[in-house]
Amino acid sequence: MTEADILKALSNVQEPDLGKDLVTLNMVKDIAIDGNNVSFTIILTTPACPMKDMMSNASINAVKLLVNKEANVQVNFTSNTSTNRKDNNILPGVKNVIAVISGKGGVGKSTVAANLALALSEGGAKVGLMDADIYGPSVPIMFGVRGERPMMRDVNGKGMIVPLEKYGMKLMSIGLLVDEKNAVVWRGPMASSAIKQFVTEVDWGELDYLVIDMPPGTGDIHLTIMQTVPVTGVVIVTTPQPVALADAKKGIAMFAQAQINVPIIGLVENMAYFTPAELPENKYYIFGKDGGKKLAEEYDLNFLGQIPLIQSIREGGDEGTPAMVNNDDSAKDAFIHFASNAVRNIAIRNANLPRTKVVEVVA
Ligand SMILES: Nc1ncnc2c1ncn2[C@@H]1O[C@H](COP(=O)(O)OP(=O)(O)OP(=O)(O)O)[C@@H](O)[C@H]1O
Ligand SMILES: [Mg+2]
Repeated sequence: MTEADILKALSNVQEPDLGKDLVTLNMVKDIAIDGNNVSFTIILTTPACPMKDMMSNASINAVKLLVNKEANVQVNFTSNTSTNRKDNNILPGVKNVIAVISGKGGVGKSTVAANLALALSEGGAKVGLMDADIYGPSVPIMFGVRGERPMMRDVNGKGMIVPLEKYGMKLMSIGLLVDEKNAVVWRGPMASSAIKQFVTEVDWGELDYLVIDMPPGTGDIHLTIMQTVPVTGVVIVTTPQPVALADAKKGIAMFAQAQINVPIIGLVENMAYFTPAELPENKYYIFGKDGGKKLAEEYDLNFLGQIPLIQSIREGGDEGTPAMVNNDDSAKDAFIHFASNAVRNIAIRNANLPRTKVVEVVA
């Protein structure tokens, strides 16, 4: 067996999402051969890659089938989270920025954003959570950090805000920086400049993913953020309820506009159904059935999953321990499934779509 034999065999193994083979994608390194033993490392596009086992099995089969049926194949994994950025003046160490939006308020953006960030972090990625909801920040309560005062650090002669660290990831909320009572009445330029300052003056360091919890709706604040931060893609949250779906359509329309054109990573349906603990087989579709799923189909968006309505999700959010750090497996499973769908689609986006840059709206 030679290194060339192994590479030739692995050029028959596809990265299922990217539709190209591992060798063409430069995903194979450190091939070592010793008699019948061969090992190599596959470089994944995200640490929590759900396709890992599939690629491992396909690689072992390819080597046995095409090179040596006696081979003992050991597949190792490492990751180098893909990015699609070029201009890194803003948030220089951040590879991907995911904005979590909804049209309607109260559908669970903050809950979804927080648990997405935690699920990615649990999967091994370096993650930050930015709460940019200037009118109703939730991260301080959801993470039990209300009243904490962030520190400042000097970065190249500029004072930068140091994010807090909790549950293995970084977080910062505009609610920790501005007085809530004042912020509620801010409009226009004041809100705009506060948000600009907030998104550019936090020193996030090196991150695979920065998740932004956005304010509800589709207004000026959203535009300001998109014009300041290069957003890799947005995740749309909706409940299955008709009023939420109608507002979600406005969100879809905003991001699909030619002047904005930020890719939509996909749509997640929150509060999809309720299952009482004593009747685990039953599902009650309190807000309607599959509304988000159907909306995703209608607009040809990736459907990222359904999060059930679970009491512990609400309690965890109120008590500073989001669902991902609680012990309710059905909630955790739903968030992990959703998060892995989201990062899969980000990797696909990074491989196929134009570079991420800030939105430049020409009036
Ligand atoms: N799947 C769920 N199961 C149970 N409770 C949930 C679920 N999702 C969200 N909630 C609860 O619903 C309330 C609203 O959720 P959340 O604050 O995440 O919504 P939001 O869209 O961010 O709201 P806003 O528009 O005000 O920012 C919270 O109390 C939260 O704990
Ligand atoms: Mg919120």
